[in-house]
Amino acid sequence: MATTTLPKKLVLLAVLSLTGSVYAVLVRYSKVTAKLTYVSSTVVAMQELLKMVVTIFVLLVESGGPTSTINVLNHHVIRAPLDTSKLAIPSCLYAVQNNMFFLSLSNMDAPTQQVLLQLKIPFTAVLCVILLGRSLSMQQWLAVLLMFFGTGLIEYYSTTNTMFGHKDKRAVQTGSNENFFLGLFAVVLGSLCSAIAGVYFEKIIKSNETSLWVRNFQMYIWSVPMSFLGAFVNDSHKIQENGFFSGYNSLVWILILLSAFSGLLISIVLLYSNNITKCFAASLSIVISTVVSYYLFNYHIGWYFIIGSTLVCCSIFLYVIKCQPSLKKMETEHSPA
Ligand code: C5P
Repeated sequence: MATTTLPKKLVLLAVLSLTGSVYAVLVRYSKVTAKLTYVSSTVVAMQELLKMVVTIFVLLVESGGPTSTINVLNHHVIRAPLDTSKLAIPSCLYAVQNNMFFLSLSNMDAPTQQVLLQLKIPFTAVLCVILLGRSLSMQQWLAVLLMFFGTGLIEYYSTTNTMFGHKDKRAVQTGSNENFFLGLFAVVLGSLCSAIAGVYFEKIIKSNETSLWVRNFQMYIWSVPMSFLGAFVNDSHKIQENGFFSGYNSLVWILILLSAFSGLLISIVLLYSNNITKCFAASLSIVISTVVSYYLFNYHIGWYFIIGSTLVCCSIFLYVIKCQPSLKKMETEHSPA
């Protein structure tokens, strides 16, 4: 597979940032403005199913027809159970991350949870060094820290304010049956799982010539049944009462499409770029979605946003612009041949 040029990588990251921004704005709209009552776990299951369908379609195109696709899958999946089972690890880690997200949110206030979730940024950097043998310069470490603090600051204040500029007291309220330490454990574990899953997947796709789409197939073969099982176990009551697709409308389908597209795009970014630049794209999408929400929903923007977004922009400048020679060298070393 050919090495992708720096401008192409930047386009990939820009598309990922924009997709993340549109997704965040639409989720806010669906929950607060449209007050849709869809069951989130069914949405996750549909996203995983859609990613699997798209992956099979790409495999059909990549390998040149149904017969060769069956041969490829026979060779890489059915006759390679050990290889396929390796992809159960990131799949399980992403599933744990999803569950920890909800567990932490039910045991701590949303702003604290949002800040702690950003721990996946330094965790990812440390894991890239330990597991991928990558080295970061002092400037790049500083960029990672600035990104963590900048994103954390924006997320903290965004979640304490509603879209209409007022303080949302419910966001910072703590219930009597909440266990903060359980919430803390869940959010740290969730961030760690996300970082390990990303770095592990990157290591696997860059370890040999096996197609990214075969790797995605090997991963979704685990995540599809797990997500459907998760929906039927956690929300069986709601699903039995109102049906699997209750509360669905065209907006929910757009959310499913966007999220599936963004998951597949992340896998492409991990192949052609790396986990740390993926974190930059995610931070940038938080900045963009806040600015878009300001114009669309009269979202409150204060000093925290100015400082937070300045920190995020400085971190991108430090990492991508200032460190371009070492970045190019690093990516040439780690890009697939
Ligand atoms: O929050 P985080 O960056 O860890 O999320 C990564 C997302 O990318 C997860 O939702 C995961 O399901 C998705 N992904 C994917 N296919 C891959 C790798 C990640 O859909 N091959």
